[in-house]
Amino acid sequence: MVFELPELPYPRDALAPHISKETLDYHYGKHHQSYLDKLNAEVSDSKFEGKSLEDIIRTAKGGLFNNAAQVWNHSFYWHCLSPQGGGAATGPIATAINDAFGSFDEFKDKFTSTAAGNFGSGWTWLVKNSDGGLAIVNTSNADTPLTDAAVTPLLTVDVWEHAYYIDYRNARPKYLDAFWALVNWEFVNSNYS
Ligand code: FE2
Repeated sequence: MVFELPELPYPRDALAPHISKETLDYHYGKHHQSYLDKLNAEVSDSKFEGKSLEDIIRTAKGGLFNNAAQVWNHSFYWHCLSPQGGGAATGPIATAINDAFGSFDEFKDKFTSTAAGNFGSGWTWLVKNSDGGLAIVNTSNADTPLTDAAVTPLLTVDVWEHAYYIDYRNARPKYLDAFWALVNWEFVNSNYS
């Protein structure tokens, strides 16, 4: 079995002007593809052959873990964005956010400052804990909340420089503004329910 690059849920130019086609050509077409190619090479003829991506993430270490987790994290991230997205949260997640953080604006400020402060390369996540409460967490490099069975990932932003350098150079805060203009609340709600 060979893992395949999942199709983007929108055309590569659909997130412009917030995230350009050139960024998606590199970020999806080259970086995501490269994690996938390395994953397939490492899984081939190993004891992980035939395992699901989630199984590999939960049991592998080192380079295999890194490539498997980056494949999963990116596939999840593409669905967190939508050309029809952005604005304040809607649906059940809007109520949960108000309960957990006081208001949508307080949540947005906290998520943004957590993402801006995530040192180096990594990901910032909104997760649901096993008690149903929400939390904002940072992970470094390829690390993913998927390895914690008590936690459900709801939303993520990729804060690796490759996610924003073409469009915003080193200005991560400008990229985070762009992210908020694209958040796919329908997908967040589907993860929450
Ligand atoms: Fe990335």
